[in-house]
Amino acid sequence: MPPVTPPSSTAAAAQPADRAASQDAFTRLMGLVSEDLEAVNRLIAERMASEHAPRIPEVTRHLVEAGGKRLRPILTLASARMAGYDGHDHVKLAATVEFIHTATLLHDDVVDESEKRRGRPTANLLWDNKSSVLVGDYLFARSFQLMIEAGSLRVLDILANASAVIAEGEVLQLATANDLGTGEAAYLQMIHGKTAALFAAATEVGGVIAGAPEAQVQALKTYGTALGMAFQIVDDVLDYGGASANLGKNTGDDFREGKVTLPVLLAVEAAPDEAARAFWKRVIEKRDQRDGDLAQALALMAQADALTGAETRARAYAAEAREALAAFPASPLRGALEGVVEFVVARLN
Ligand code: IPE
Ligand code: IPE
Ligand code: MG
Ligand code: MG
Repeated sequence: MPPVTPPSSTAAAAQPADRAASQDAFTRLMGLVSEDLEAVNRLIAERMASEHAPRIPEVTRHLVEAGGKRLRPILTLASARMAGYDGHDHVKLAATVEFIHTATLLHDDVVDESEKRRGRPTANLLWDNKSSVLVGDYLFARSFQLMIEAGSLRVLDILANASAVIAEGEVLQLATANDLGTGEAAYLQMIHGKTAALFAAATEVGGVIAGAPEAQVQALKTYGTALGMAFQIVDDVLDYGGASANLGKNTGDDFREGKVTLPVLLAVEAAPDEAARAFWKRVIEKRDQRDGDLAQALALMAQADALTGAETRARAYAAEAREALAAFPASPLRGALEGVVEFVVARLN
């Protein structure tokens, strides 16, 4: 058979360049909204204070000052500006979105029993589960105070709805974890809830606050949803092979917890024999895991092309996100938002 694929060394050499180029796109987008982003960071610092309970700013500062990409608030700022907004309320909405995100991270690390986040030990590890849950609740409440200040009932509707859908997604994940019968539709619904709904709200409120035509508001919502779906699928792939140092969190958490993410789901569907099916049953359903099991899972995934299959799906969502931006005239902001789509999938390289 003639060679139809490039030698793997060529592909490998091309990858870091892809990643560097897409990192540039993210940096470019950040540069386009940098003043607004500084205002968001100031607002977050101001509003995470609590007069009476010092534990609140302690825990929040630990997470907020560790950084994080600020991807969602950047999306809100850029969406509003691309839609022609020239006011200041988008800063409040962007801070709201990051508050919601921060609250869900505090809760998520308790649920997932995670020990590392943004390159630091998690709050649940440094303090305890109770502190993470309660400070997360406080941040959720603060986010509602902030979103109200923007004075738009429609914005309130979108963000309140997203908050409910995120919690729903996290609970759905409880139900699908350890259940090998989880199908792709249930998985997609779950990641739509826990991740894509907030991306969608982040971009949609940008369009709403700008008073953009409805078609553009919907396009922003489509962009955010598809980008969020791609983002979570990529995150699920990285849990099986990303570099912990780059991600700032430990990989392998999903396997340890027996989560039926897309890579597992695709490998289980393609299990070659009874031994493979018994393996998945033991490690995922029974959570009876031994040394060497993660390596065995990776081998079965490789055999089933499961990571590539997941990547293909992530790329399809990425394409959908990019296409949605056609509702806006070409501009540096649109170009940078297109670039961010690449940034999200290039994390796989
Ligand atoms: C982590 O999101 C939670 C997921 C949806 C996977 P990010 O990767 O955007 O986290 P930070 O804010 O940059 O730390
Ligand atoms: C993150 O889910 C989604 C939310 C925080 C709601 P994950 O559990 O998959 O993300 P990481 O890997 O902890 O960031
Ligand atoms: Mg988690
Ligand atoms: Mg989780």
